[in-house]
Amino acid sequence: MSKLNIVILAAGKGTRMYSNQPKVLHTVGGKSILEHVIDCAKSLKPHKIIVVYGFGGDTVKQAFAHEDIIWVNQAEQYGTGHAVQQAVAHLEVDADTLILLGDVPLIDAKACQKLVEQAQNKLAILSFNKADPTGYGRIVRNAMYGVTAIVEHKDASEEQHKITEVNTGIMAMPNVHLLQWLSKLTNNNAQGEYYLTDIVALAVQDNVNVVAEITTDEWSVTGINSKTDLSQIERVYQSRAAQKLLLQGVTLRDPARIDVRGSLSCGRDVEIDINCVFEGTVTLGDNVKIAANCVIKNAVIAAGTQVAPFTHIDDTQIGENARIGPFARLRPGTTLAADTHIGNFVELKNAQVDVGSKINHLSYVGDSSVGKNVNIGAGTITCNYDGANKFRTVIEDDAFIGSDSQLVAPITIGRGATIAAGSTITRDAPPDQLTFCRAKEQKSIAGWKRPQKLKK
Ligand code: UD1
Ligand code: CA
Repeated sequence: MSKLNIVILAAGKGTRMYSNQPKVLHTVGGKSILEHVIDCAKSLKPHKIIVVYGFGGDTVKQAFAHEDIIWVNQAEQYGTGHAVQQAVAHLEVDADTLILLGDVPLIDAKACQKLVEQAQNKLAILSFNKADPTGYGRIVRNAMYGVTAIVEHKDASEEQHKITEVNTGIMAMPNVHLLQWLSKLTNNNAQGEYYLTDIVALAVQDNVNVVAEITTDEWSVTGINSKTDLSQIERVYQSRAAQKLLLQGVTLRDPARIDVRGSLSCGRDVEIDINCVFEGTVTLGDNVKIAANCVIKNAVIAAGTQVAPFTHIDDTQIGENARIGPFARLRPGTTLAADTHIGNFVELKNAQVDVGSKINHLSYVGDSSVGKNVNIGAGTITCNYDGANKFRTVIEDDAFIGSDSQLVAPITIGRGATIAAGSTITRDAPPDQLTFCRAKEQKSIAGWKRPQKLKK
């Protein structure tokens, strides 16, 4: 097979998105529309990827600064043929070109591969049957079923309007022909545009075979023009992601109520309850159970761990058989070893908690190292911030922190130390001793009365 050039058309304005953000940077499954297309292109191992951009160009380019892409500016948009003409200087005479559209995120790499294979000395078009073909270019076939032209909706006759086989806009052809045809395009049509689709009639004139490959996966060729389209494609993407998980043996209580905005890999016998959102890269080990309404981003959760409802996990690693939540918040830099318990209304940030330790109720533990088998009582707070700088708290193995204590960092609580409830600890606590710091006496005032509501 010859070399492959891929041209992605992405200069359109996206007026109907009513957004200041370029259309192709809106996301599907947490990844920009254009990135989906670029990833598909990359999987075909092309010699070159050329993106024709226009509206919001610099923002688009910046979003892909790390990619090996040739950017071509189409400052004024005079049609799809005009768009490809802008890329001519980069097209190699001994290569084939695959044209992709930058606003079609569910594009299927296998269908593209097939099209490219078809394109040896031919013009290969990806088409599909659309119940309501309004707006699309119609595939015109002759009595022998051979493709003779694509006629745009606005240029089509009444007879041609009845054709339901339409052009996806995705096509492949040898550059020797494409370069010739591009030079012959005119804008004598209803829209005064240079139509790429006119190359079909030019191919027929040149006796170059034209084949239209019909796809039945309409979503894989559907472009996004509005927020309605975006929301529909998002649902299709999510339901496909859910089906993949089910096929791998993951239990989803409702496949319609899970969102995967990135990649989620699961071991065996993983269970995920409703309304969970997974972002970035998330790995769940065997037998992990995620209860309803959890948001989990960039996390590794090891085998046997259970996450109770309404838990928020971000950039955190969790060991085996841990119990997290409900209503826990694990913030970036947190690592929890095996058999740890983190309960309700507990916030951890950049905290490393070792095997078997428990922080079960209403606590904030930040910038802290917590040893093995530590118990941190309800309402404990590590005061890690003096208003200007952050300091670390170290709590050694087997320590017991009484409820409602404040540990003012930098501070170390020694191995086996006990901190009495209600203490504000500002200096290191020695190992194995009881340390407390409270008001000296407990007083009771006899005869004291609660204030009464004043009568008007
Ligand atoms: C085009 C096809 C039509 C097909 C339809 C599928 C032509 C003439 N028509 O229609 O047969 O059924 O796609 O959706 O090709 N673009 C540019 N520069 C331009 C114009 C468009 O980069 O000057 C890009 C757009 O960003 C978009 C793609 O090309 O990604 C298609 O453009 P769009 O206007 O949506 O398609 P139509 O011309 O309506
Ligand atoms: Ca158009």
